[in-house]
Amino acid sequence: MGTFVLEATGLVKSFGQTHALAGVDLAVRTGEAVAIMGASGSGKTTLLHCLAGIIRPDAGQVTFRSGAGGVDVTGLGERERSRLRREAFGFVFQAGLLIPELTASENVALALMLNGMPRPRAEEYARGWLAALGLAGMEDRRIGQLSGGQAQRVAIARAQVTGASVVFADEPTGALDSATSAEVMSALLHSTVGQGRTLVLVTHDAQVAERCGRIVDVRDGRIVGERAGAGAAPAAGPAAGPAAGPSAGPSAGPEVAA
Ligand SMILES: Nc1ncnc2c1ncn2[C@@H]1O[C@H](COP(=O)(O)OP(=O)(O)OP(=O)(O)O)[C@@H](O)[C@H]1O
Ligand SMILES: [Mg+2]
Repeated sequence: MGTFVLEATGLVKSFGQTHALAGVDLAVRTGEAVAIMGASGSGKTTLLHCLAGIIRPDAGQVTFRSGAGGVDVTGLGERERSRLRREAFGFVFQAGLLIPELTASENVALALMLNGMPRPRAEEYARGWLAALGLAGMEDRRIGQLSGGQAQRVAIARAQVTGASVVFADEPTGALDSATSAEVMSALLHSTVGQGRTLVLVTHDAQVAERCGRIVDVRDGRIVGERAGAGAAPAAGPAAGPAAGPSAGPSAGPEVAA
């Protein structure tokens, strides 16, 4: 079943009188895809942000385990959490948060350059990942010159290029039609669990959630249910996806970026 890459216990987070998280325990295995579902305002994004070290819970603990051992994410200071996010985690959001003035390849290369890789090498890696995600020939287009699904694949490339061991995605298909959404999910699953990495995804879309190995239901800041999805379990990657899988892309880990 694999080891736990993330383990959260007793997470509590309030914003004023709003109890966004009211005691959440969640353990995520290496190589697993977990979908978090729930009504608007139920605490999904807050949970994702606590797991990823973006915000600190009021109580509870998040442990991240890598080859280098376990890290108490909640105990880290702002700088260390920021470094952990840059080096070990990747992020894909609904709007992509790409920089519109930059090209596809510049957007992806930026993630590597922030980790210290020189620009020419970063752009070379970026192009490799974009090609692996089916975007060959579009590397020099600005984000506004791409379709929604293409732009989201650029965001996926950016989340992968640093060799992130966990990718966090918050409604990554929220702005897409169902056909494009299915394609983007294929790309996302292939480049994460297909490579033995871990995906934690928030979605309102049952079809998207079903493609994950496990679906967790959140209500009023608590986990109220859990079931298996149709997606592959850890160690058995999904079969469907883009013809040129990201396995063709470079696997620049943070150590390579040094
Ligand atoms: N920064 C904040 N300040 C104040 N309240 C917040 C903040 N972030 C979240 N909340 C509140 O906490 C609760 C949980 O919010 P959260 O964003 O986690 O919900 P969600 O499940 O992601 O919802 P959605 O599906 O609409 O994105 C909501 O009531 C929300 O209004
Ligand atoms: Mg949300």
